[in-house]
Amino acid sequence: MIRILVIHGPNLNLLGAREPEVYGRITLKAINQALKKMAGKKKVGLSIIQSNHEGEIVDKIHQAGKKFQGILINPAAYTHTSVAIRDCLAGCAIPTVEVHLSNIYFREEFRQKSLVTPVVKGTVMGFGKNSYLLGLEALLDII
Ligand code: DQA
Repeated sequence: MIRILVIHGPNLNLLGAREPEVYGRITLKAINQALKKMAGKKKVGLSIIQSNHEGEIVDKIHQAGKKFQGILINPAAYTHTSVAIRDCLAGCAIPTVEVHLSNIYFREEFRQKSLVTPVVKGTVMGFGKNSYLLGLEALLDII
């Protein structure tokens, strides 16, 4: 069975209450349920984590190669700051797809650069929950 690791970065645990004008009212739980539903239909195993800690995300990516065939990640604020997450994704043997709920190019200037994009297979952004679903679809297609 194909197994995918889904990583949600910092503050995404607050979805639903956090800046609803940007991210909508959808909760992380609802996003995870939609991902699990899709994975169930496609007979794919999903392991989902959320972390507010850069080092913990790096550790999870290091371990992922042994257990998973792909990574779906929303690095959240670390997208724009984390050389450590970029470097471990670059060295990771399994394919990664980056997703964002919002279109980072429509937003503040400091968000308009992703350190992660050059080291992933592709990026889906701007479609809210559907960014994750489209990202999972694309990742499975690569695998
Ligand atoms: C985000 C965009 C980031 O700039 C922001 O820091 C987030 C969420 C998104 O999904 O749109 O936390 O990754």
